[in-house]
Amino acid sequence: MAIQISPSILSADFAHLADEAAAVSPSADWLHVDVMDNHFVPNLTLGLPIVESLLKAASTPLDCHLMIEDPDRWAPAYAEAGAGSVTIHAKAAGAPVRTLREIRRLGARAGLALNPAEPVEPYEDLIGEMDMLLLMTVEPGFGGQRFLDMVLPKIRKARELLDTRQSSVWLQVDGGVSAETIERAAEAGADVFVAGSAVYGAQDPAAAVDTLRSLAAKASPLA
Ligand code: DX5
Ligand code: ZN
Repeated sequence: MAIQISPSILSADFAHLADEAAAVSPSADWLHVDVMDNHFVPNLTLGLPIVESLLKAASTPLDCHLMIEDPDRWAPAYAEAGAGSVTIHAKAAGAPVRTLREIRRLGARAGLALNPAEPVEPYEDLIGEMDMLLLMTVEPGFGGQRFLDMVLPKIRKARELLDTRQSSVWLQVDGGVSAETIERAAEAGADVFVAGSAVYGAQDPAAAVDTLRSLAAKASPLA
């Protein structure tokens, strides 16, 4: 699978979200939308009404990353609204299998996210239930944090697990991804890259996406 870049609008200007979406639309594969509830993470961002508006305004499919408690209850509505991908956090979900299945039934790709300290092995049996595994490379909650190199061995482990099963599940990394760090994550086997500050902090966000993509493509061991 080709390398994909998902710019995070967490680092965009929330007063001009449609323009900020348009600024990356020539280059981005996805628009990453960080939903935070001030409970699962100590930050509050946006929810379904804004996602619904963005779905009308943006031409790029939405990659909704739900950093919320009780995703079993809230996640299906994002799929139903038309998000292309909906990711829930493993430790927040009471019934991850049911929720991942529900997201798929409603027409979205289903993602499962793990925080930096959470091992991937306990979720091996869930691989068939997901379309994407998200490995956080910072503690979730804020943009602009430093990439955690301690996650690299887990990215390699996850890539091995997916390859052994000949799985087509995408392996996403999120947090601190920049021109300085993306090659390390790509080399370890990630294929979908979220980048907030590295894209929206750049003079030309679309060009920043292109640069990230070509750095990742060169470093990636994937065909
Ligand atoms: C952090 C969010 C990320 C964030 C990444 O909890 O999930 O998507 O926007 O921002 P950067 O790329 O600046 O680390
Ligand atoms: Zn995110």
